[in-house]
Amino acid sequence: MSELSPKLGQNGTIKNIDSSSTVAETEDIDFSKLSERPRPLTMERQRSYDERSFLSELSVGMSPRLSIRNIDSYSRNIDHLDTVFSPCRRSGFNTPRSAMDFEPHPMFAEAWEGLRRSLVFFRGKPVGTIAALDNSDEELNYDQVFVRDFVPSALAFLMNGEPEIVRNFLVKTLRLQSWEKKVDRFQLGEGVMPASFKVLHDPVRNSDTLIADFGESAIGRVAPVDSGFWWIILLRAYTKSTGDSTLAELPECQKGMRLILTLCLSEGFDTFPTLLCADGCCMIDRRMGVYGYPIEIQALFFMALRCALLLLKQDDQGKEFIERIVKRLHALSYHMRSYFWLDMKQLNDIYRYKTEEYSHTAVNKFNVIPDSIPEWIFDFMPTYGGYFIGNVSPARMDFRWFCLGNCVAILSSLATPEQSTAIMDLIESRWEELVGDMPLKVCYPAIEGHEWRIVTGCDPKNTRWSYHNGGSWPVLLWLLTAACIKTGRPQIARRAIELAESRLVKDSWPEYYDGKLGRFIGKQARKFQTWSVAGYLVAKMMLEDPSHLGMISLEEDKQMKPLIKRSASWTF
Ligand code: GLC
Repeated sequence: MSELSPKLGQNGTIKNIDSSSTVAETEDIDFSKLSERPRPLTMERQRSYDERSFLSELSVGMSPRLSIRNIDSYSRNIDHLDTVFSPCRRSGFNTPRSAMDFEPHPMFAEAWEGLRRSLVFFRGKPVGTIAALDNSDEELNYDQVFVRDFVPSALAFLMNGEPEIVRNFLVKTLRLQSWEKKVDRFQLGEGVMPASFKVLHDPVRNSDTLIADFGESAIGRVAPVDSGFWWIILLRAYTKSTGDSTLAELPECQKGMRLILTLCLSEGFDTFPTLLCADGCCMIDRRMGVYGYPIEIQALFFMALRCALLLLKQDDQGKEFIERIVKRLHALSYHMRSYFWLDMKQLNDIYRYKTEEYSHTAVNKFNVIPDSIPEWIFDFMPTYGGYFIGNVSPARMDFRWFCLGNCVAILSSLATPEQSTAIMDLIESRWEELVGDMPLKVCYPAIEGHEWRIVTGCDPKNTRWSYHNGGSWPVLLWLLTAACIKTGRPQIARRAIELAESRLVKDSWPEYYDGKLGRFIGKQARKFQTWSVAGYLVAKMMLEDPSHLGMISLEEDKQMKPLIKRSASWTF
């Protein structure tokens, strides 16, 4: 346990454990069926669109030297994927493996050291990374392994040829999923994945135990809807990058996926294919007016469904889910591309909406009152560009820009190629607002005054231009970079990475920055925040070798017909 952060159960006492927390982990799943040396990938042997299109994308906006070098490494990588999986255990744990001849920025090596320091071990095996290694402040729950925070760490390890930790994490969290989860006397759905877990070490007995939080200890008691989606997305990333399909094919993994899917595909009173959520059930895990149908969850939902489609076996149980997924994807993409999409034309249409329309012929289907359109959007909306807005529900459109949802929409191909280009156009034209001095705004703009009081419930952590309320989060760099590569605009990512490089080390890798331009280290930001470190690493590695994008990106599904081009008679 010496490798563990000193904060993790250092003295063997179990501190800060809510009495209602589900405690104790003893047995691992019997994964004996999992061969030591995974066999090669049988699915997705075809080069994906993303990979194929790199060759043409790379020639856009890149220096000739770089593009040729990347094409070379691209070919190497693809060849490797197509042949055999060779798990590469690296002996030296400090230097990143580099298949390329690039000379990384000095902070690249420092970031790797930081990431390795954040490793959390369970019974001698690395199972995740701690949220923050900041000893200067009160712990709260930053000494835990968060599922969403681990995603960029996992991608960094996969890109560096170290899949074991990712596999351990997937197996461990799957085991946690099967715990009985309760808030007071109410039992949560079987498929709920934890928001976070923590390893407790007892030095006297020399034993490790786990505690996990499914929302029953979280501030606000909200279950993390995003965790299950990230788990499926990560399982696919692992499978894609290693060629090892044995993990995903295990009955336990298939069941874990089906349980997650059961939660989000169940029939109810819904009139929309989007997923209804409580406030704070995702990265923005406090009350921020993201209840209802937040873009972050809808984009992750879409991506997880598409990943599940690739991973589910065509057996009796799998088939049933596959059918349901296909139907849902169809409806979801139509709904999102039609009603969440906003550009100049669409904004103008909403501005001219009539209200109180009834029946199928209604144009203003959700009865959005034009007076509710906020003033800022008229200046913010560029002539060229667009984005998926924050939320759409009856009489409510949340026009705020949310970074994660829009980037995931590009990566999952929820956005059509035209919409993806438009999102990148918007980022370029609103650079100062969305990137400013430090990438990247989690949402834009901030809410303040009376609206802040009503929407956040006077949250002192989410004051205007701070934290979730218009703060700038370095972790989002990896998502931006992935979206840039996918849309063939790596130069945008390069600009953003340069900004981050000018400050992140000096400022000790803060969790977030405050201010309209992101010039100030966040009010209560943790230092040495692991996903700020990992986000930077993933962005750098992906830019250097764009073939890495394949593990976190999905090609467009031609069967999901793009929306008919809007015209003056645009209806919804
Ligand atoms: C904060 C963030 C959340 C993150 C957690 C750990 O609560 O809002 O998204 O998972 O910190 O870093």
